[in-house]
Amino acid sequence: MLEDVSDLLADPVDGTALSSQDGYRSLVSAQGRSYEVCADGFVTLAACETLAHDGDDAQMVADRETFLSQGHYAPFVEAVTQGVHDALDDAGVGNDIAPALCEIGAGTGYYLSHTLDAVDDSRGVGIDVSYPAVQKLTTSHSRVGAVVADALERLPLRDECIHALTVIFAPHNSAEFARVLAPGGSVVVLNAESGHLRELREPLGIMDVEPGSTERIIEDMAQYFVPVQAPQLVEFKMRLDQPSIAAQIGMSPSARHIEPEVLHQRVATLPERMDITARASITRFVRPAE
Ligand SMILES: C[S@@+](CC[C@H](N)C(=O)[O-])C[C@H]1O[C@@H](n2cnc3c(N)ncnc32)[C@H](O)[C@@H]1O
Repeated sequence: MLEDVSDLLADPVDGTALSSQDGYRSLVSAQGRSYEVCADGFVTLAACETLAHDGDDAQMVADRETFLSQGHYAPFVEAVTQGVHDALDDAGVGNDIAPALCEIGAGTGYYLSHTLDAVDDSRGVGIDVSYPAVQKLTTSHSRVGAVVADALERLPLRDECIHALTVIFAPHNSAEFARVLAPGGSVVVLNAESGHLRELREPLGIMDVEPGSTERIIEDMAQYFVPVQAPQLVEFKMRLDQPSIAAQIGMSPSARHIEPEVLHQRVATLPERMDITARASITRFVRPAE
């Protein structure tokens, strides 16, 4: 709930603290800017009325929820949760501090809610630019505060308030990550690698992940962050039936390039069940020692 994370949130215009008004019906800045908390329990924190990006649409969000709820990505969730545990250990976040987590491009809250379950007394801000995603995110966990915001703009978070920030198949904003991370905190990045879903590329006509994408993230982050160690590959097979394959493609960027009817026809030509490769790397970033 927003109440759990309100001390972490900030005005997206000038970064000043927000306080609740009318029992969390709105969040208000010292300058009097007011951000309405909608009946579903999330808030839009944006400097402009129209967001520059729109993120996943309702069908992509529905497909994401269908696919992730089947547990196929469990090794990815475990790797991210382990990364957050390592981050909190390194930051020395102990029993006296409630760990503050944030996921950028949090989607339906699948990863963030698992991590919150695994880290005692933690609370988490989930940020996504997609309204249908944030509607799901709001109810994903009792300790999630859900915010609609563009992660490529100023983040609606106070300076140095987040102990571990996760970015899972989502956009990066290294300058803002550096600003909001508490001293000693980490950014945990899960990024798809070339070969992800390789068995589906040809029959469905979807593009491969460009080789070198993790190296490019490391370069983008290099002004503010260094990796703690080399990216760790997480690779495993998923046994997927046709509806799960359709949901997997429906939640991915390929969904934007293939008409749903065409995808449906191509999926119908596949075997009833297939063993599909999932392949991503996890990298934990920290600020370099001064
Ligand atoms: C591939 S999905 C990953 C979602 C989630 N991390 C997961 O793995 O289940 C990317 C997410 O980033 C969101 N997104 C895209 N551009 C964004 C932006 N500029 N700011 C915030 N979120 C964004 C999308 O709406 C979508 O929910």
